[in-house]
Amino acid sequence: MKKDFLTITDFTSDEVLDTLHLAIEMKEKAKRGEYRNVLKGGVGALIFHKQSLRTRCSFEVGFQQLGGSSVYITNQEIELGKRETIHDVAKVMSRYFSVICIRTYSHRDVEELAYHSEVPVVNMLTDLLHPCQLMADMQTILEKRGNLDNLKVTYLGDGNNMTNSWMRMAQRIPMHLSIGTSPDTLPDADILKETQSCGISTVSVHHDVMDAVRDSDVIYTDVWASMGAKDQIDTKIEQLRQFQVNADVVNGAKKDVLVMHCLPAERGREITAEVMDMPNTVVFDEAENRLHAQKAVLVKLLEG
Ligand code: CP
Ligand code: NVA
Repeated sequence: MKKDFLTITDFTSDEVLDTLHLAIEMKEKAKRGEYRNVLKGGVGALIFHKQSLRTRCSFEVGFQQLGGSSVYITNQEIELGKRETIHDVAKVMSRYFSVICIRTYSHRDVEELAYHSEVPVVNMLTDLLHPCQLMADMQTILEKRGNLDNLKVTYLGDGNNMTNSWMRMAQRIPMHLSIGTSPDTLPDADILKETQSCGISTVSVHHDVMDAVRDSDVIYTDVWASMGAKDQIDTKIEQLRQFQVNADVVNGAKKDVLVMHCLPAERGREITAEVMDMPNTVVFDEAENRLHAQKAVLVKLLEG
């Protein structure tokens, strides 16, 4: 049966860990010019309804490194669900492509596409979740720390698709997840509830930034207004001001804390330029690892 990657919990804990180790191995081999030919001339569809630098580039390069190629498609061409049904789009694309990757607004649209597709579907970001980013982030933490034991991750800022993705990761990999945000910018309530009751990790929500970051191994942040919600930025600034990742906040965590951001960053807003450029800020390693983590996900989907 074909398998999709729409959320981290589409993989078991063992599959997540295997994929992370495979990503590290593939990264080392890529440095020696060794690539895994899983696509064998197959082509990946890359459907983008939102902007992208990292995701588009890392998927296009990744498809080539796996022995295939990709086609970049915007909503101008297919108008998913408007020009024809998502069912019909899925059936047609399944006849051309080995994998369908999509970045769009509605997570339900992606679930519907996956339901009707005969080939694996990969979520490249929805308003709800961004699982590929989380795989690259966990790969980065594993590389930097050497293990994922007794990990405390603090997410600071808007309760958004990245916060939700961290919670889904916490349902697979044990961690202490601390979320620092305002009462008006909380993440998805259902995902929070399911994470708190899954018995794998602890999750706490704090409205005081210093309470949130205490003893953290990782501080993670993201833009305060996501794609599709940029008009809310003035309100978000008011709500999230105290959750900016600056030197004082970093000093409230462990000495060797890793500072992470999925990028793009708005320097001076959710993170200061000073922190962005600190030695323990690993944002460009995360960006690099998008390439290898996604290739490992594709190997798992295509080879099992
Ligand atoms: N982090 C990330 O997904 O970046 P892009 O929006 O540039 O793809
Ligand atoms: N939360 C951000 C993530 C960008 C990678 C957004 O959805 O715009």
